[in-house]
Amino acid sequence: MHIDRTERTYMIIAGALIAVFFGLVVVSSLAYGIQVPAPEARVDPQTVATPGNSPWGDPIDERVRELAPGQYEAFILAQTWVFLPNVIEVPVGSTVTFQVTSKDVQHGFNLSGTNINMMIIPGQVSKLTATFNEPGEYAFICNEYCGIGHQTMFGRLIVTDEG
Ligand code: CUA
Repeated sequence: MHIDRTERTYMIIAGALIAVFFGLVVVSSLAYGIQVPAPEARVDPQTVATPGNSPWGDPIDERVRELAPGQYEAFILAQTWVFLPNVIEVPVGSTVTFQVTSKDVQHGFNLSGTNINMMIIPGQVSKLTATFNEPGEYAFICNEYCGIGHQTMFGRLIVTDEG
């Protein structure tokens, strides 16, 4: 098959660029610990927030649990237009596994200062983990447009000084 020289050149350039971009993805995932949110579990969005049905149905102040010293899990429910809970407090050095689901429409969960950025899909649990070695406030926001109150959908993680 005859391939024009110019066309061949552009094919080689395009192939090389794809290889470079793929390499960058590999390097960034290894060097920066990029995580892909796993579809951790399936839930029924109609009943997920019903008390007794799931951790997202528990009282709001019981949805952040210490599993072991410095190891926490946080069950966050996304709904129009709030995160519940929307204030989370852990001591510095903690590792927190976020398990987020939605009971209505698609939302987002982006936690500043970390590489946590998940799509929150009704019926599905999105799960990612981060360790907080710096005290301070970390904002989390909904970054998927979810309706008229989208911009009010945010919360904060407070990492306190006492370890
Ligand atoms: Cu929820 Cu935007």
